[in-house]
Amino acid sequence: MIESETPHTPDIGPETRTRLLARTEAFVRARLEANACGHDFHHIHRVRVLALRIAPEAGADPFLVEMGALLHDIADPKLNDTPEAGLRVLGEFLDGCALPPALRARLEDVLERVSFGKELDGTIGAPAPKSPELQAVQDADRLDALGALGIARTFAYGGSRGHAMHDPDLPPREGLDQAAYRNGCSTSVNHFHEKLFRLKGLLNTRTGKAIAEERHRFMAEFLDRFMAEWDGKG
Ligand code: ADP
Ligand code: NI
Repeated sequence: MIESETPHTPDIGPETRTRLLARTEAFVRARLEANACGHDFHHIHRVRVLALRIAPEAGADPFLVEMGALLHDIADPKLNDTPEAGLRVLGEFLDGCALPPALRARLEDVLERVSFGKELDGTIGAPAPKSPELQAVQDADRLDALGALGIARTFAYGGSRGHAMHDPDLPPREGLDQAAYRNGCSTSVNHFHEKLFRLKGLLNTRTGKAIAEERHRFMAEFLDRFMAEWDGKG
């Protein structure tokens, strides 16, 4: 658990917060331990650290931010047999936490809306304003897809799915909706164009945008060098 200096949620005590965070961390570690496709516990931990760094600027509750970061990938359909199974596992865990209903609702709002895919095809998006906690966790998750780590995760993920690193005959797809983004065949290099280079424009907070700017620049330089070397130059 990471200590934070910003004020805590008023309606549960510090001991309960500590206990719930420890319990949640243990649950998430156990669920994601065996996952090698970019969603291991190290990803969760990095998102937690970054989200807590962004939280004060967003005016976010640090307890909800930490809970949201820890749980943000638990219901991900990629990590579960079906989307329903993921939601069931998450729901059962939250039942066991016995959070006050208002707090649970705020946490569930973060977990339901954090993903890129949903914002991409407008399933969830513009209508309701984003809570400060959602802004912090979402920015942190997006930042972990950028920069040196983003590059590493992209090729690790592509490798785990048997995708080619690059195929000059397979151009990036444009205007993807969620189903195409998830299911179509593409390469790891195309993933930069289809998703990663768009993330910079989707960051919520000033801190998130500044970090994204630098990570974006590094990725663009990486890809320029990749292409130059591919063509026997550079
Ligand atoms: P999130 O952690 O936000 O749920 P995703 O589940 O979309 O992100 O992806 C996890 C990691 O795998 C990210 O780093 C992402 O960029 C990468 N990734 C996702 N889809 C692909 C793909 N088709 N090719 C290469 N990398 C991918
Ligand atoms: Ni994630």
